[in-house]
Amino acid sequence: MNIILETDRLYLREILPSDDEKMFEMDSDPEVYKFLGRKPIRDIDQSRKMIKNIIQQYKDNGIGRWAIIEKNSNNFIGWTGFKFEKEELNGNSNYYDLRFRLLRKYWGKGYITEATKAAIAYAFEKLDIKEICSMTLVSNEKSQQVLHKLGFSLTEKFTYQGDEITWYKRSR
Ligand SMILES: CC(C)(COP(=O)(O)OP(=O)(O)OC[C@H]1O[C@@H](n2cnc3c(N)ncnc32)[C@H](O)[C@@H]1OP(=O)(O)O)[C@@H](O)C(=O)NCCC(=O)NCCS
Repeated sequence: MNIILETDRLYLREILPSDDEKMFEMDSDPEVYKFLGRKPIRDIDQSRKMIKNIIQQYKDNGIGRWAIIEKNSNNFIGWTGFKFEKEELNGNSNYYDLRFRLLRKYWGKGYITEATKAAIAYAFEKLDIKEICSMTLVSNEKSQQVLHKLGFSLTEKFTYQGDEITWYKRSR
């Protein structure tokens, strides 16, 4: 396993084509998608397409979302990390966007906070990233709680494609 970083309970590594089944299990779960403003996916080929896209981002931008692996089971449990966004959104372009997602059975264990805290430290210290942005639906309170724990500040609320959005930032 090509490990990017390690915490007490988790490894982070690049997402691989062999993560397709777990990605599909996660992304076809209506509970996971409840506050994402989209419908869950219905076909594993969509997961394969997402994975291909992330692997392309590693090549093009040197960064992309990273798989989270539970150390004691060696299971893929979700992903966290950064997408380099070139498209303009809310007055920002060429910024690092943070998102995270876990298979439902791994919620409530502190895993996303643990993984993402380490990912942010790595981004600031090793990758020399100066600022990270994150957006959520206004209704996604769980995600906002996580962002607050990670030291992000709410900087704006706006409407995007009909959804009410909260916009968060954290600087190095
Ligand atoms: C957002 C999401 C990743 C949050 O997962 P989570 O497990 O609630 O988040 P954390 O890792 O911070 O865990 C916090 C919970 O673990 C509990 N916990 C248990 N053991 C813990 C430990 N050792 N350390 C810290 N917290 C612990 C905390 O008390 C807290 O529980 P609570 O939510 O009942 O207060 C998850 O809900 C998810 O995947 N949602 C769908 C996708 C999504 O909305 N993503 C965000 C938009 S990009």
